[in-house]
Amino acid sequence: MKFSIQENIKEIPYYPKAMMYGLDEGWVRLSSNENPFPPSPEVFSSILDTLFYMNRYPGGEFELKAAISEKYGVRPENVLLGDGSDELIEMVLKAMKYEGKNRVIISEPSFAFYRIASKIYGYDICKVPLVKMKVNLDTLKDAIDEQTRVIFLNNPLNPTGTIFEDEAFERFLKGMPSDILVVVDEAYAEFAESKKFPNSFKFINDFPVLILRTFSKAYGLAALRIGYGIGDESFIAFLERTKQPFSVNMLALVGAQAALKDEKHLKMVLDNNKKGKKFFYRALQELSVEFIPTESNFVLMKIGRKAEELSKKLFGERIVVRWMGAYNLPDYIRVTIGKMDENVQFIEALKRMFVKKRPDYND
Ligand SMILES: Cc1ncc(COP(=O)(O)O)c(C=O)c1O
Repeated sequence: MKFSIQENIKEIPYYPKAMMYGLDEGWVRLSSNENPFPPSPEVFSSILDTLFYMNRYPGGEFELKAAISEKYGVRPENVLLGDGSDELIEMVLKAMKYEGKNRVIISEPSFAFYRIASKIYGYDICKVPLVKMKVNLDTLKDAIDEQTRVIFLNNPLNPTGTIFEDEAFERFLKGMPSDILVVVDEAYAEFAESKKFPNSFKFINDFPVLILRTFSKAYGLAALRIGYGIGDESFIAFLERTKQPFSVNMLALVGAQAALKDEKHLKMVLDNNKKGKKFFYRALQELSVEFIPTESNFVLMKIGRKAEELSKKLFGERIVVRWMGAYNLPDYIRVTIGKMDENVQFIEALKRMFVKKRPDYND
């Protein structure tokens, strides 16, 4: 078949969306910043009860919005649900297209889907480089022009794990033109330990800001596909108009409600992450591997010019990490903090494969 296809679609790099490896045991999966633990047992029992209603269209949005709003001290009308936060990103782009104004600002590097979705919806993309591996909000502000409609921020940032702080964020929002939407994707917020991590929900009524969160990471529901947005009530109502009916499936709705209630399970996940982080830091220091201290559930490591080769060798041993070529950081790999035995397996393999003094790795 030979259709005419718009350039913006042709420009999107193609890669098969399915995982390159199966779900069988024996893989150490440290490439997608997933939770290494299955979700709370409460999630399983609520899902089992719901399976019998599979013949019905999904209900439960109201209850989940109520639970989220209670947790964060906002109103249910401030909450929007999506088929993963990926769907929320698309809803934003659908709703914000306005006459000639079609520019988005993204930090470079950052989570790839901002770029992909912006291309799909025909936006021009302005990429603002990081400063010392961090988002610099002042440089981002300088990039705003008459055509700008949306700024995608990500805090903590994928792939560096760095954050911008409360004060800098408030300064950034002050004076922001009211018809530019600032999206703050906080997919990894639960893992942030810094006291200076912004409490962004407090800004939703006074500034043009939408906060995105997900159940895919700290709550361990990546396969169910559910995320949420929190923002100004009237803007949320516009975003709702762009949403497919029933895009969030019923198992995700009840599973997320159960996951939200089980704070003990969440604490176990976060404690494991803290321990894993310390373990990685110590081991990497011993190996003289440069890394960026993280506020998230992954660590960005500088391997040198053979970083891609190293990630392939690890794959050969069924240890999957993310080589950062696609993020324009070809000397780096990003490694998710897993269960302790998985972290140990990765570090042991790294010790065998990577020796700093060897000239073929770090220059
Ligand atoms: C920064 C960031 N935002 C959003 C997502 C996607 O989240 P979801 O699974 O809710 O679509 C990811 C997934 O890796 C991510 O890294």
